Amino acid sequence: MPQTPSYFEYVRNLLLDRSGLVVTPEKIYLLESRLLPLAFQHGFKDIAGLILSLQTQHNESLTVAVVEAMHTHESLFFRDLAPFKLFQEVLLPQLLKRRHADRKIRIWCAACSTGQEPFSLAMILAEEAERLKGLKIEIVATDVSHSILSRASKGVFSQFEVQRGLPVAKLIKHFTQEGEKWRINSDILNMVQFRHVNLLDEHYNLGKFDVVFCRNVLIYFDLEIKAKVMAKISHAMVEDGVLFLGSSESTIGITKDFWPVKAGRGVYKHTDSEASLAEEIA
Ligand SMILES: C[S@@+](CC[C@H](N)C(=O)[O-])C[C@H]1O[C@@H](n2cnc3c(N)ncnc32)[C@H](O)[C@@H]1O
Repeated sequence: MPQTPSYFEYVRNLLLDRSGLVVTPEKIYLLESRLLPLAFQHGFKDIAGLILSLQTQHNESLTVAVVEAMHTHESLFFRDLAPFKLFQEVLLPQLLKRRHADRKIRIWCAACSTGQEPFSLAMILAEEAERLKGLKIEIVATDVSHSILSRASKGVFSQFEVQRGLPVAKLIKHFTQEGEKWRINSDILNMVQFRHVNLLDEHYNLGKFDVVFCRNVLIYFDLEIKAKVMAKISHAMVEDGVLFLGSSESTIGITKDFWPVKAGRGVYKHTDSEASLAEEIA
């Protein structure tokens, strides 16, 4: 294992405090690969110089840049596919059956990164528009990173990004090519509201949701933070709601507010009763 650098403790505490990110000494290589380019960009000769400046100058925008550089923003359209199929084939028919036309259906993508997840849901909803006629649907997409939210809200993706998980038919239907980039069409873009939310915040103030996607973020938190975040997500969900976690994430040992759905890995019911929207796949 490489020697622990002098700034390690400071950065470790900063990340834990600001976004709940746990960095262990084995991840020092990550610190180096992510922070060295930032140090150079800001005119420092190494990471130690960058961190010393944070400690002495209290430069908030540089502090945020350090924290954001340490986040992993990996995302792709229709990631893992199964959750999106389940959403389309099981949850939407249930929602249609159970919700009155005057009751808005609310979906939350917590930790949405560059937007592929909420836009995947928006594409599904747009394609189901005929069936969903009359239902009001809201997609709220949040992340802790201001810079990533600003990118996501533009709906512009590289060739590489649109080649990952997005079927060609959907690319042609919902995107417009602009040089080497692809811009998502405004009807899809406008279906998603992007907002800044730190999952560590005391209150999210987003209201109640029917469906929550909180995928591939809990893995970065320790047990205590996971439990706190899950309690707040539970509070932000209606009783028959459904939670989607990442394929390698689980609620075991973290919360008793959710019940795994056997047929869907990473899918959780908010109630163990037959009232759940996911009952059909349980
Ligand atoms: C790997 S991405 C997951 C993106 C998407 N959910 C998916 O599964 O494809 C993790 C995201 O979590 C965000 N994140 C990290 N800590 C967070 C926190 N405390 N509150 C909200 N978002 C956070 C990061 O900024 C990053 O965009």
